[in-house]
Parts: sequence; structure tokens; C-alpha cells
Amino acid sequence: MNSWLMHALAMTVVFCCRDALSCPMRCTCHFSAKTTEVVCPDADLSSFPGDGLPGNTTSLTIHNITWTAQHLTAIPLLEELHLPGNKLSSLAADLLKGLHYLHTIDLTDNELQEIPAYVFHHAPLLNLVLKDNRISSIHPDWLPNNSNITWLDLSGNHLMKFPMAQRQSLSHLKVLHLSQNKLEELPVGCLVAHPAQERFNVDQNKIQSLDEKAFCCSGNLTHIFLQKNRLDSLPPTVFQGDNRLQFLPTGSDTLDINTSWVELIFNPWHCDAKIEYLWRKLTMESLQPEPKCTAPENLKDHVIATLTRKEIGLPD
Ligand SMILES: *[C@@H]1O[C@H](CO)[C@@H](O)[C@H](O)[C@H]1NC(C)=O
Ligand SMILES: *[C@@H]1O[C@H](CO)[C@@H](O)[C@H](O)[C@H]1NC(C)=O
Ligand SMILES: *[C@@H]1O[C@H](CO)[C@@H](O)[C@H](O)[C@H]1NC(C)=O
Ligand SMILES: *[C@@H]1O[C@H](CO)[C@@H](O)[C@H](O)[C@H]1NC(C)=O
Ligand SMILES: *[C@@H]1O[C@H](CO)[C@@H](O)[C@H](O)[C@H]1NC(C)=O
Ligand SMILES: *[C@@H]1O[C@H](CO)[C@@H](O)[C@H](O)[C@H]1NC(C)=O
Repeated sequence: MNSWLMHALAMTVVFCCRDALSCPMRCTCHFSAKTTEVVCPDADLSSFPGDGLPGNTTSLTIHNITWTAQHLTAIPLLEELHLPGNKLSSLAADLLKGLHYLHTIDLTDNELQEIPAYVFHHAPLLNLVLKDNRISSIHPDWLPNNSNITWLDLSGNHLMKFPMAQRQSLSHLKVLHLSQNKLEELPVGCLVAHPAQERFNVDQNKIQSLDEKAFCCSGNLTHIFLQKNRLDSLPPTVFQGDNRLQFLPTGSDTLDINTSWVELIFNPWHCDAKIEYLWRKLTMESLQPEPKCTAPENLKDHVIATLTRKEIGLPD
């Protein structure tokens, strides 16, 4: 073979394989039959790693760049976008345009302050994580009316209001995280438009009271986390789990609550005669993990369901 032919062959090989296995500098790419995953770990990237990004990328993870969004149109098959810790301070309204397969976005630990209208309308999102930003303002039309979203995490932000408009039906939403915000109240029936919701984390806010119908129509709800709010009393028909509550309202025999609704374990239960209702309920239904007393000292860490009438100071 002459050297010209050798050279031509070598060029062909370089050309074909660079193209087939292209991957941005400082990133790693994993190709499989169904997915192309690109991870740009910390990378010292100074800009979006557009050069060499495989056109069929299905999952993209980038850390630590100052980032602008328009480049995503080059990777229309994207299914997952992970952008934690990128100092992102805003989202363009057309960020997700053309991404018809994108089901998961993780924007944890950025610097977002507001969520503009329509920003999440363009992609069929199922999982959206906006945890640990500075979000205080959310446009009422941030999610499409017929969104199929199942997992939404807005914890660790600065929200003062419940983020969903009443009219917004999220009929597939199962998990809603609003922990560590500044919510002062939950609108009456705030979960009515989320019939499939199973978990509601709203601990570490500033909620002072709950309407008795707050969770009225939430038939699929199995877990509510309310600890570390400012609740010190609750309407008798709402089941509670706030950490300042030390007993359930008395005279609540008509309460038709299901104890598996609430994670009781976060309450510093004071085990005296006032917890009679809870004690009776727990001796009838078993709940895992088992709620324990935090006081008085002699009953500390005792499982409530195992206490005797005498121990909690009830007459025989
Ligand atoms: C993506 O492109 C690469 C290179 O052309 C190919 O090897 C891989 O099979 C493709 N993956 C998908 C999911 O189409
Ligand atoms: C993030 O990028 C900055 C430069 O933009 C760099 O100084 C810093 O070390 C990077 N951090 C990590 C964890 O890579
Ligand atoms: C939700 O899913 C349905 C059925 O797959 C689809 O018709 C609808 O467009 C989806 N909604 C959004 C906002 O993607
Ligand atoms: C969602 O539905 C409500 C009432 O059904 C309507 O007023 C609102 O404009 C709709 N929003 C969008 C973005 O379609
Ligand atoms: C529970 O969620 C399912 C959908 O996952 C829904 O069909 C059903 O109506 C919900 N139940 C109640 C009581 O809302
Ligand atoms: C309480 O709810 C759980 C989970 O939804 C269910 O399995 C259980 O049967 C319910 N218990 C009662 C007494 O209704």
C-alpha cells in the first residue's frame, strides 16, 4: 500500500470514529443501545460543552459552569437533564423548546429566584427538582394545566405562598416537597387538584394554623410531614404531626383519621394522660416506626403503644 492510501485510510478512520464516539472535552460519555449519557463532572468548564456533544445525547449532567440554555436544541432526544450546582440564576422561557422526550430535570442548588411563565410547558416532565434555590416567585402558569408531573421538589426555597394555583389540576402528582420554605398557610383544599398525591412534605415552614379541610379530599395521601412549623393547635378533624404538639386534642373519639397518615415519630410526645387518645389508637393499630415518648424523663424513649394506663397516669 502506498503512503497516500495509508494516509487516506487513516483519515477515514479518524473521521468516522471521532464522529461516532464524539464526546466533549473534560466530559465522559457512555454509549449504549438505548442511551447516550454525558457527564461533565466539575470539569473547569468555562462554557456549555457544546463541541462534541453527541447529537443523540439522552442524559446530560453538568456541574459548576455558568450556563446559558439555548444549546439544548442540538440534543432533541434528551430525556434527563441534571444541572446541580451551576450558579444558574434564571431560566429562559424557551429553555425546553423542542425537547419532546425530557422527563427529568434536576436544578438543585442553583441561584434561581423566580420561575417564569411557560418555562416547563415544552417538555413532558415527570420529575422536577428545584431544591435549594432562592425561589420566592412562581408564575401561575409555570406548569401546563395538563401536566403529567409525578414528583415535584421545591424544598429549600423562599416561598411564602403555596406554589400551585387552585385551578391547576396536577392529576398525576404523587410527591410534593415544600419543606424548608416560608409558607405561613396552606390554602383550604390545597391538595384537592392533586387526587393522586401520596406524600406531602411541608415541614420546616412557618405554618401557624391549618384549616380543618386542609387535607379533606386527599384520599391517596399516606404521609404528611408537618414538623417544625408554628402550629400549636389544630382543628380536631385534622390529624397532626407538628413538633410543638404534645398530645392530640381530647374528646376526639369521632376522629376518623388513619394513623398511617402522619409520621408521628417527629413529635416530642409528652406521655401523660393527655395522650390517651393517641395511646388508644396506637394500641389498636400498629404503626412503623413506632412513636415514642420524649417526656417525662422516666418514660423517655418508651414506645407509646406499650405503655400501661398507670404509666400515663390514667385512672384504672
Ligand atoms: C448514538 O450515536 C452513537 C454514535 O453515532 C451510536 O454509537 C449510538 O448507538 C447512538 N445511540 C443511540 C441511543 O441512538
Ligand atoms: C467551579 O468553577 C470555578 C471557576 O469557575 C472554580 O474556581 C472552582 O474550583 C470550581 N469548583 C469545583 C468544585 O470544581
Ligand atoms: C400527559 O400525558 C398525556 C397522555 O400521555 C398526553 O396526551 C399529554 O399531552 C401529556 N401532557 C403534557 C403536558 O405533556
Ligand atoms: C389553565 O386552566 C385554567 C382554567 O381551566 C385557565 O384559566 C388557564 O388559562 C389555563 N392555563 C393555561 C396555561 O392553559
Ligand atoms: C388515587 O389516585 C388514583 C390515580 O393514581 C385515582 O384514580 C384515584 O381516584 C385517587 N383516589 C382518590 C380517593 O382520590
Ligand atoms: C390506613 O391507610 C393505609 C394506607 O393507605 C391502609 O393500608 C390502611 O388499611 C388504612 N387503615 C385504616 C384503618 O383505614
